[in-house]
Amino acid sequence: MKRWICPLMALALWGCSAPEGLTEVSIGEPYAAKVDSVLRLMTLDEKIGQLNQYTGNFQATGPVVDDTTKIDQIKRGMVGSMLNIKGVANTRELQEYAMQSRLKIPLLFGLDVIHGMRTIYPIPLGEAASFDLDLMRRTAAGAAREAAAQGVHWTFAPMMDVSRDARWGRVMEGSGEDTWYGSLVAQARVKGFQGDDLADVETVMACAKHFAAYGACIAGKDYNAVDISDLTLHEVYLPPFKAAVDAGVASFMNSFNEINGIPSTGNRHIQRDLLKGAWGFNGLTVSDWGSIGEMIAHGFVPDLKGAAEAAILAGCDMDMESRAYVSNLKALVEEGKVPERYIDDAVRRVLLKKFQLGLFDDPFRYCDLEREARTVLCDSLRALSREAGRKSIVLLKNENNALPLAGFRGRIALIGSLAASKIDMRGFWANEGVIDEMVTVREGFERRFGARSVIYADGYDLETNELKLPEAMRAAAQADVVVVAVGERYFNSGEAKSRADINIPATHQQLVRELKRSGKRVIVLLMGGRPMIFNEMAPAADAILLTWWLGTEAGNAIADVVAGDYNPSGKLPMTFPAHVGQIPIYYNYKSTGRPESKDRGYSCCYQDIDFEPAYPFGYGLSYTTFEIGEPVLAKQTWKRGEDVEVTVRVKNTGRYAGRETVQLYVRDLVASVTRPVKELRGFRQVYLEPGEETEVRFTLGDAELGFHNAALEYVVEPGTFRVMVGPDSKRVKSAEFELL
Ligand code: GLC
Repeated sequence: MKRWICPLMALALWGCSAPEGLTEVSIGEPYAAKVDSVLRLMTLDEKIGQLNQYTGNFQATGPVVDDTTKIDQIKRGMVGSMLNIKGVANTRELQEYAMQSRLKIPLLFGLDVIHGMRTIYPIPLGEAASFDLDLMRRTAAGAAREAAAQGVHWTFAPMMDVSRDARWGRVMEGSGEDTWYGSLVAQARVKGFQGDDLADVETVMACAKHFAAYGACIAGKDYNAVDISDLTLHEVYLPPFKAAVDAGVASFMNSFNEINGIPSTGNRHIQRDLLKGAWGFNGLTVSDWGSIGEMIAHGFVPDLKGAAEAAILAGCDMDMESRAYVSNLKALVEEGKVPERYIDDAVRRVLLKKFQLGLFDDPFRYCDLEREARTVLCDSLRALSREAGRKSIVLLKNENNALPLAGFRGRIALIGSLAASKIDMRGFWANEGVIDEMVTVREGFERRFGARSVIYADGYDLETNELKLPEAMRAAAQADVVVVAVGERYFNSGEAKSRADINIPATHQQLVRELKRSGKRVIVLLMGGRPMIFNEMAPAADAILLTWWLGTEAGNAIADVVAGDYNPSGKLPMTFPAHVGQIPIYYNYKSTGRPESKDRGYSCCYQDIDFEPAYPFGYGLSYTTFEIGEPVLAKQTWKRGEDVEVTVRVKNTGRYAGRETVQLYVRDLVASVTRPVKELRGFRQVYLEPGEETEVRFTLGDAELGFHNAALEYVVEPGTFRVMVGPDSKRVKSAEFELL
């Protein structure tokens, strides 16, 4: 018997969304009266002003319009928010201008604090490799502390776009390919940024972005169209956003892309029927940079006035940088095309956040120079960055005990310009991090092993990748071990950084092969912001550490792992393809009627390459070894509503203490819609000394066993389920149970 959990979901079919109309924001006390007391005083111009957001000139994160009237508009109450303003002095100055307006409504300052403010943490995709939700909450909290100390009220993070396409440069901002894990990470980061109370001056508003399905852009091309089924939208791309609402996220940012012909910014279904309707979201929605105006280029509206009408009616509350609202909404209201109650609802949402942040009590409460001085780049945040760096590193290969260099007394040839590049350690979306404050690998190694033990050589030109072989080979000849840094540049991933070819530079791979001819151990540090392909290099490497872009403490964190001070524990949050032609490639694929098979034949395979990835989702080695036992079920048959209990024994069978992430996957073998061959539905991190053994326990309930059926209802269906446990998504041991 089919049972559904979320009745309102049933309304969420495109064709039969909730009745047209406005789901007014529900504001509880004590704010409802306060918000309405201000709203009643506002003119239509002043209301529209609250929905208008401009960028400052500190940095441009989109196409900048030359506009010298912003300050005057702020003084006239025609600006509700500014982005890209940072620092107590700058935010105070603009807030002073806002206090000159008739109603003295304070400005909201937003900024892309994606992985740190001044102290930079690993890029989010790298940090997701830690599989440490508490760590991700703590780094978000650290970033919020630093941002709030610099006058910022609102971060445009966390980005929670699931993506299965490594060609898309923005995979670096998210938490990878898995929806269930991505939902947990989204909640951890929202709670980190916002804490328990937005009135706490060490917290900031978070922003769930980019709503929705931005990561499904066709061919991995940024901003490209998205054409997916309703089922895929609800099964794969929406859940992290729903999880963010459940975690109390203060705001949403809609996305540049269209979904099945409707640009997200003008998409009433996802913004009103789902987000503000079925999900009951009472925060504010902001467009992405200029995305209201970009609906003209989409071919969805004829002009900026049409764009303003489409966006406000669809539920986009605030206009980032397209000037559509401030130049058209008044006329649209006066012409009766936009009922003023739509404006009022959007303004209520904005005013509510300003009240919750305490800005009406004190518009300058985030402008504390002394707090700014004592918080920015403080030791505790640097230590946190180093911890996050260590835990984000993934050991992809380690043969002949190449690593760790524990107790190493010899000389290290450290080769590769990336090992000496400060700007690259920041990664993309780290504009607030001061380049000189980044610790390079060279600095980290010299500090950890002694400057006299490190022989550095460029190996290749950082800008041109042209090989500089002689110097590198000389360094290798003088050393006992070779460590070589290869990969992408920081600007090869991020926004508008899609790439058709995700191989790392051929010269980098050639360098590794040549260095191997030196006869020394070759340890590779692989740097980048996305899954990369490096097939030519891999066989020559004795060890490969994926180090992403780790931020301020990068060099120290990498030295800690190479020296064995920290045993690497990272696991891949995204599949690493063996060939770009495999993309999109992900672990939770469908079986099909002719499942992939090694002999290919009539099966779901390529004729010319293998179907296996280079490294699967969830993969990551350790300096020690772990033995994960069979999954044990408390019983074979379970009733609906019972928590299915699964236990697994784990033993450290190696020479080093270490952390293992035991993963549990589930497959619903027969269902009313086909289900993936496996889906991550649990993970437990255990830290074990050599020889130590423990048991981990998983419980599976509706949230782990259910799915959206063809009618988009969330259901749990009876039948046989397979549970699979292991150290990654490939090496698993299975058991089955019946759900009645
Ligand atoms: C950018 C990005 C978005 C960011 C915004 C403000 O274009 O798409 O993620 O928050 O503009 O910088």
